[in-house]
Amino acid sequence: MRIGIAGTGKMGSAIARRLASLGHGLTVWNRTRARAEPLLQEGLAWAATPRELAQASEIVISMLTDSEALAAVYSGPEGLFAARGSGTLFIDMSTVPPATQQEMARRAAEAGAAYLECPVGGSVGPAKEGKLLAFVGGAEQDLARARPVLDQLCKRVEHVGTHGAGETMKLAVNLPLMVYWQVLGEALSLVQPLGLDPRRVIDILADSSGGPNMLKVRGGMIAQALAGEAPGAVTVDVATMRKDVAAMLQEGRAHGRQLPLTAATLANFERAAQRGLDGADCSQLPVWWLAEGGRT
Ligand SMILES: NC(=O)c1ccc[n+]([C@@H]2O[C@H](COP(=O)([O-])OP(=O)(O)OC[C@H]3O[C@@H](n4cnc5c(N)ncnc54)[C@H](OP(=O)(O)O)[C@@H]3O)[C@@H](O)[C@H]2O)c1
Repeated sequence: MRIGIAGTGKMGSAIARRLASLGHGLTVWNRTRARAEPLLQEGLAWAATPRELAQASEIVISMLTDSEALAAVYSGPEGLFAARGSGTLFIDMSTVPPATQQEMARRAAEAGAAYLECPVGGSVGPAKEGKLLAFVGGAEQDLARARPVLDQLCKRVEHVGTHGAGETMKLAVNLPLMVYWQVLGEALSLVQPLGLDPRRVIDILADSSGGPNMLKVRGGMIAQALAGEAPGAVTVDVATMRKDVAAMLQEGRAHGRQLPLTAATLANFERAAQRGLDGADCSQLPVWWLAEGGRT
């Protein structure tokens, strides 16, 4: 199939490589062309504008930072929705507030375009291996078209409702994980006076009933960060986590719900950002908390 990727950041690049490795014809577009260069050197094609990307593709997957990025890439004379009559199916995998997806669905209808929201759980590793979790919002017939490709990217595809429902599910899935990053820092701060090897501590926590799957997958990276070893490639940065937690609070408020632990988590992530952690990998959060965040 001819597939376009709009946004070749960390996740978009991993998804593009996965689909290219399965034999699809891939074309990519990214706001900053230099960031797509490694993919172009691997033989993927380049589109000069989002509109050209849509014209060249049967399916376009977008994977962008936030609502502003979605507006910029889909709207306007060179935007994805400008490729009228191409019959392209658009699948947006970005994590944005549910209301943004409702607005995108309205714009898609105006443009006569088929549009699905499909935010995903799982990071760069699962994207490369086709093991993401997908939360789809939109029409059944659009999902039927998307499904063969989604099945190649995801271990589970859940159609949870109309546009906005997918993002609501994604925020709910991510919420305990976000709060866990904060409580992990706090748990480590309790055990720090024992002076144990961080690898051993993380191994014990991961083996316990309170150890989430994340600790089993990322435990090695976290232990490495705690031991002060050089960080590897960034998989999820703190800015992305802050954006998601802010969207969770916004969504809770919109429905008259209180999320007190979520609010406290956001406050601590904002402190971390003020100390320059926005571009750092999430595994640096507990390191920061031990070093300065959690001191009385
Ligand atoms: N990383 C993860 O583990 C993960 C997992 C699940 C979901 N997500 C979600 O996936 C999305 C992408 O995350 P990522 O980690 O891949 O982020 P990333 O590496 O920072 O990539 C962000 C992408 O969005 C583009 N972009 C940002 N603002 C733009 C604008 N105004 N106009 C056009 N393009 C714009 C960037 O283009 P430039 O290169 O030009 O800046 C880049 O292609 C986010 O919504 C995130 O919440 C991430």
